[in-house]
Amino acid sequence: MKEKLQTIKAAAQNALAAADSENIIEELRVKYLGKKGELTAILKQMGSLSPEERPAMGQLVNEAKQELETLIAEKKEALKAKATELKLRAETIDITMPAKEINAGGLHPLNIVINDMIDIFQSMGFDVVDGPEVETDYYNFKCLNVPEDHPARDMQDTFYLAENLLLRTQTSAAQIRTMETRKPPIRVICPGRVFRADEVDATHSPVFHQLEGLVVDRGITMCDLKGVLEQFAREIYGSDTKVRFRPSFFPFTEPSVEVDVSCSECGGKGCRVCKGAGWIEILGAGMVHPNVLRCCGIDPDVYSGFAFGIGIDRITTTRYKISDIRLLFENDKRFLEQF
Ligand code: DAH
Repeated sequence: MKEKLQTIKAAAQNALAAADSENIIEELRVKYLGKKGELTAILKQMGSLSPEERPAMGQLVNEAKQELETLIAEKKEALKAKATELKLRAETIDITMPAKEINAGGLHPLNIVINDMIDIFQSMGFDVVDGPEVETDYYNFKCLNVPEDHPARDMQDTFYLAENLLLRTQTSAAQIRTMETRKPPIRVICPGRVFRADEVDATHSPVFHQLEGLVVDRGITMCDLKGVLEQFAREIYGSDTKVRFRPSFFPFTEPSVEVDVSCSECGGKGCRVCKGAGWIEILGAGMVHPNVLRCCGIDPDVYSGFAFGIGIDRITTTRYKISDIRLLFENDKRFLEQF
């Protein structure tokens, strides 16, 4: 019986050593340790032994049983560990692979220019104000000394939303809103979008940008206007920039001027950027018309002021030598990535 036990044990150990799956191990467990297993069968035969032989034999069988149980448990553990390792190896991440490129966003060139312009005017003591893009006829035209049927309305082809409601054609509307809520001394700028029903081409867009400026106080003169605009032009285009004032007409200023700067690309000789003119027109300006002050409850005999409206898109296209204004609005990444 002892020999038989040894044989069974050795066979079981060999079989377990060769087993390479949990199923096979389970089969072996049943074969040797199960109810009808070979080792169990030996235990059952214990009855045929003499009472003296029984304890020693019983101990041997139990030891063998325990050894096999331990072996089975170890083998199962080992198989599980191996499976885990295989799985981990299959799922490894190659950390040497180049990472996905991060696409960092940046400011739109128009916003870069607007921020620079705000910096320049803030350093001269201007506040920044905001105004609505949907305006009433009153703020966009009437109170700016442009009554109904005035021919000056034809200069600005307007998107009307309702009879008295429109998309503002000029940031000048912010002048009125400011003078209604603030009393002199007033020194504000208002950058923003404006809208006109223009045909789209390389220099026209139905959406474009202006930066309005307004100063009202006692004793403000055209000299103040010139000083502020010259300072602005030099800061934005460079210190050797020349500024030229040409007489013009706007209903809300008297006198009115249009202002050109010498082309920063060619220095005034004429080139592609200034279209051969040597000068670039960047804004309209003038002394605030007494009718406008009066409309806002400010006495023109006590106060005077100047105003200006700068074309932000023009400043942007000339600064960055952008040949077509449409590029500013098409959101083409290849264009935007250059700033
Ligand atoms: N609003 C004018 C335009 O869009 C520009 C302008 C001219 C603004 C003279 C002003 C100004 O404030 O005084 O054509």
